[in-house]
Amino acid sequence: MGEMSRPSESELNFIKTKVAEMSGRDAKEVRVVVSPYRICPLGAHIDHQGGTVSAMTINKGILLGFVPSNDSKVVIQSGQFKGEVRFCVDEIQLPKNAIKLNNSGQPNGSGPGEVYSWGNYARGAIFALQKSGNHIKKGIIGFIYGAEGLDSSGLSSSAAVGVAYLLAFESSNNLIVDPAENIEYDRLIENEYLGLKNGILDQSAILLSSYGCLTCMNCKTKEHKLVRAPEMNSQCNIGINKKFKILLAFSGVKQALTTNPGYNRRVAECQEAARTLLQASGNEGLEPHLSNVESDVYEQHKCKLDPILAKRAEHYFSENKRVLNGLDSWASGNLEEFGKLISASGLSSIQNYECGSEPLIQLYEILVKAPGVYGARFSGAGFRGCCVAFVDANHALEAASFVEKKYTTLQPKLASQINEGKVVLICDASDCARVI
Ligand code: GLA
Repeated sequence: MGEMSRPSESELNFIKTKVAEMSGRDAKEVRVVVSPYRICPLGAHIDHQGGTVSAMTINKGILLGFVPSNDSKVVIQSGQFKGEVRFCVDEIQLPKNAIKLNNSGQPNGSGPGEVYSWGNYARGAIFALQKSGNHIKKGIIGFIYGAEGLDSSGLSSSAAVGVAYLLAFESSNNLIVDPAENIEYDRLIENEYLGLKNGILDQSAILLSSYGCLTCMNCKTKEHKLVRAPEMNSQCNIGINKKFKILLAFSGVKQALTTNPGYNRRVAECQEAARTLLQASGNEGLEPHLSNVESDVYEQHKCKLDPILAKRAEHYFSENKRVLNGLDSWASGNLEEFGKLISASGLSSIQNYECGSEPLIQLYEILVKAPGVYGARFSGAGFRGCCVAFVDANHALEAASFVEKKYTTLQPKLASQINEGKVVLICDASDCARVI
């Protein structure tokens, strides 16, 4: 376990006191799930096609304090959202799309005062556990708390929340579940319960990462490895993890992925491109995922793709290469090269995957020019939220104020809506999700 500046004693005390008040139990009985947010320096938008991605967690994320209920009841309050989520773990959970509304427009089975939308992730966790044949008897009494202002920022807050609930229900029911199973359970929450056609990047990063390493996941074979950066840099004699900081630069554009059709549309375009390439090479029997298309087949038949599909496929194949090159750069401690690949990945997201919005593209362009920045790209899906950059630790403050100044000039209204005008956050890498 490496450096962890989160959670602080005061955060833990706050959460434990809150759960003790809600449950009438002793604060010492309260367990806390630490579920970090993730960044993906290389490997954007290729997880859903079975590509290979790279990721790491940051020292910001979700905390879920809880005690096991004495029975099947779930009672959850949130530090960010109003209301209380209440249900029983033995209720059958239906995918969100299949939920029928009652006469007053509430989903059937929801209790009075329930705020349904943020309760989806706790229900989704039960859906995934039930669907996988687990016997969940005990509910939880819990309080969930996310890093201020970082929800809907492209840092995988939804996967961090889903993983947090899974770990809490498993802990309350004495279930031992390995990370590979939890990766699949979180996939069930997102793909089957919520209907987002995303890949397994987010939860893999959250469940597998280790401080000092780049997590590499092959989303087709599900094989993963942790690539450790060299401990010492021969020239300046300091550990590589002390050489860089992670900058999060916020655009102020917020919209949940599940309500943005752009994400699922692009997944469908990638599949359409795969279908054309597989047909052209006589492999139409294979699943239409770009990872089922060999790169020489792509080179030979890419002229058959219509212009939009050609761009999506070009992003997939070029991004896979950047990930592989990036793993080498990371393993040899070459942050300059690693950073160049990140910025090239960002450019491909703009030009080929076409997933940015104007403010995010402006942020990207500012970041790549900021002092000490090795490389930058959109974080997460890229339609909203933030950009992520790797920056020389000695220049992090200077870069942050450069970005803040330029972005505030270009987008004064959006900038004023961000975390009380704090456009840039400086973070460190972190570890995987755990119960403490
Ligand atoms: C979102 C999705 C992930 C991944 C990224 C883009 O975070 O949840 O599965 O596709 O976008 O890389």
